[in-house]
Amino acid sequence: MTAQIERSLVIVKPDGYRRGLTGEVLRRIEAKGYTLVALKVEIADRDRLAQHYAEHEGKPFYEPLVEFMSSGPATFAVIEGQDCIKGFRSLAGATNPTEAAPGSIRGDLGRDWGLKVQQNIVHGSDSLESAEREIGIWFPRA
Ligand code: TYD
Ligand code: MG
Repeated sequence: MTAQIERSLVIVKPDGYRRGLTGEVLRRIEAKGYTLVALKVEIADRDRLAQHYAEHEGKPFYEPLVEFMSSGPATFAVIEGQDCIKGFRSLAGATNPTEAAPGSIRGDLGRDWGLKVQQNIVHGSDSLESAEREIGIWFPRA
């Protein structure tokens, strides 16, 4: 398998934004050697969130997730680097912050899964196809 230069869509979710963790997440991305190729702060609208989370439509956590993701500013970034899709997922850690390994963003900074399961600080694309799709949603001109 050959390593390849990829792009991934990263979101510092509203919980990360509110807690002042945007810089910390971007620092880890840059420290890992990935490049920031696009960056913006925005309150996400429900239409685009519906496209972004289309794979989860109908699941019990879908509505609260969309509600939460549109609840305040979030930071959207396109990052670039060798195998950065898998690499950023590894930096982010497991979806559930309680299970995320120490050293990862969610493992170090995430709070207990508890009541607000959707609050796990970051989003990162999970495949080349999702990355292309998600970058098209949030950065239509990138
Ligand atoms: P998912 O794509 O499975 O996780 P990841 O963000 O690690 O790719 O789920 C999308 C988001 O939905 C996840 O970050 C948090 C939220 N979520 C819940 O609120 N409850 C759940 O049971 C799951 C699986 C996810
Ligand atoms: Mg996902």
